[in-house]
Amino acid sequence: MSCIVIVGAQWGDEGKGKFVDVFTERADWVVRFQGGNNAGHTIVVDGVKTALSLLPSGILRPGVKCLLGAGVVLNPSVLISEMERVRAAGADTSPGRIVLDRDAHLVLDYHVAIDKARERARGSGRIGTTGRGIGPAYEDRSQRSGIRCADLLYPDLMRERVRAHVEEKNKILGLVLGSDAQVDFASVWERLEQEASILAPYVGNGSKLLHDAMKRGERIIFEGAQGVLLDQIHGTYPFVTSSSTIAGGAAIGSGVGPRHIDSVVGIAKAYTTRVGEGPFPTEIIDATGEELRQRGHEFGTITGRPRRCGWLDAVALRRAVRISGIDSLILTKLDVLTGLRSIKVCTAYRRNSEVLDDLPALVHEFEGLESEYIELDGWEDDLRGARRWEELPSSVQRYIVEISKLIECPVSFVSVGPGREATIPVNVNQVLQGFIR
Ligand code: GDP
Ligand code: IMO
Ligand code: MG
Repeated sequence: MSCIVIVGAQWGDEGKGKFVDVFTERADWVVRFQGGNNAGHTIVVDGVKTALSLLPSGILRPGVKCLLGAGVVLNPSVLISEMERVRAAGADTSPGRIVLDRDAHLVLDYHVAIDKARERARGSGRIGTTGRGIGPAYEDRSQRSGIRCADLLYPDLMRERVRAHVEEKNKILGLVLGSDAQVDFASVWERLEQEASILAPYVGNGSKLLHDAMKRGERIIFEGAQGVLLDQIHGTYPFVTSSSTIAGGAAIGSGVGPRHIDSVVGIAKAYTTRVGEGPFPTEIIDATGEELRQRGHEFGTITGRPRRCGWLDAVALRRAVRISGIDSLILTKLDVLTGLRSIKVCTAYRRNSEVLDDLPALVHEFEGLESEYIELDGWEDDLRGARRWEELPSSVQRYIVEISKLIECPVSFVSVGPGREATIPVNVNQVLQGFIR
């Protein structure tokens, strides 16, 4: 038996989907444990690209079971259309192969309406959410009124609760948020009733299934969404998402005890990106930032929004390593840096004579903060065809070794392209070795 957790070590979009797919070669389960369709995970197999927002990134490997754990918030309409899309591409989407934990909460139209209206009301103080209703769905969970997957099995009992929600949210939309948007109960219900009949056979007891799987010695991958710096508690609050994106979230959001987790893998780009608002100490505002955006195709997988680009931030990465207990890092998109004469890495922040070695707690404390950089030699070589460490130019090897030293964490793999095959092992621990051939 072995269980690994894969988390984003930055602000999301680090290439988690690609590496979950890589490790499914010998996995039995892939489990999403938090977030919802704010995530966009990309997998490229034989040149064919698949973008997933809810389904775990094991869906393209036949035989790998996919669980949406209790900590996920799940939009039934989005899930059903995603299932139809991957089914058309040949994936098995039958109940049992895909399981929805009975305790996972639903995201319904009124959550989406509130998310959008609240962002508008925030004006210049907006978070830059994905507008997918994720925060409002977690709010309902916290205030103990949410509708869960288990409720899909009892439509008659769910109906009046949904009606009460719609009435309450319409008041919030109009009276509190000053929005013209109103949600129509009849149309929400008509759709949800149909969706309940489609999804009911998929509802199961996730923690029990995982427990039994572990007893059989099966291999489990917990697939994080977003990134550690977007964690609701430990991220750059309030510019964060509404769930626990850190590795500890895997235990909470799946109902598996933390002592079962054998290895925590952090994924980081060889530079940094962020979508939406919020502090970003190493952001590059000039032409180099634009060049990275174009070369790295840094536009949202699902929303298409341009991602803000910056240098690698070792201070932020050290925080991610510490908070998530990351025991090996995977560096992605090294190929995108080809052609840069020199590459900067932030090693500390400075305010006047004060040196900071962690992200500040408050947003205003980021103002006037200067990033201290080291500059490393760039490279001209096209890395996309490299498959072994020895095939990487010495300046690339130096970049990887330097980052590993700065963040005090081994690098297990690097990635030089979006495809499964564009993956280079560096310092692979025994647990991860068990997931690949
Ligand atoms: P996720 O949210 O962490 O799964 O990442 P996304 O899928 O949102 O964004 C990562 C993007 O980078 C996707 O388009 C991937 O196909 C792509 N990608 C992943 N690894 C590499 C890499 O090493 N090189 C290049 N050029 N693209 C990569
Ligand atoms: P993956 O899994 C990048 C960001 C949003 C916004 C903040 C809050 O693909 O890495 P939310 O809709 O969650 O309330 O938005 O979080 N965000 C992401 N950024 N990748 C993601 O997911 C993200 N999911 C949410 O841009 O800043
Ligand atoms: Mg993404």
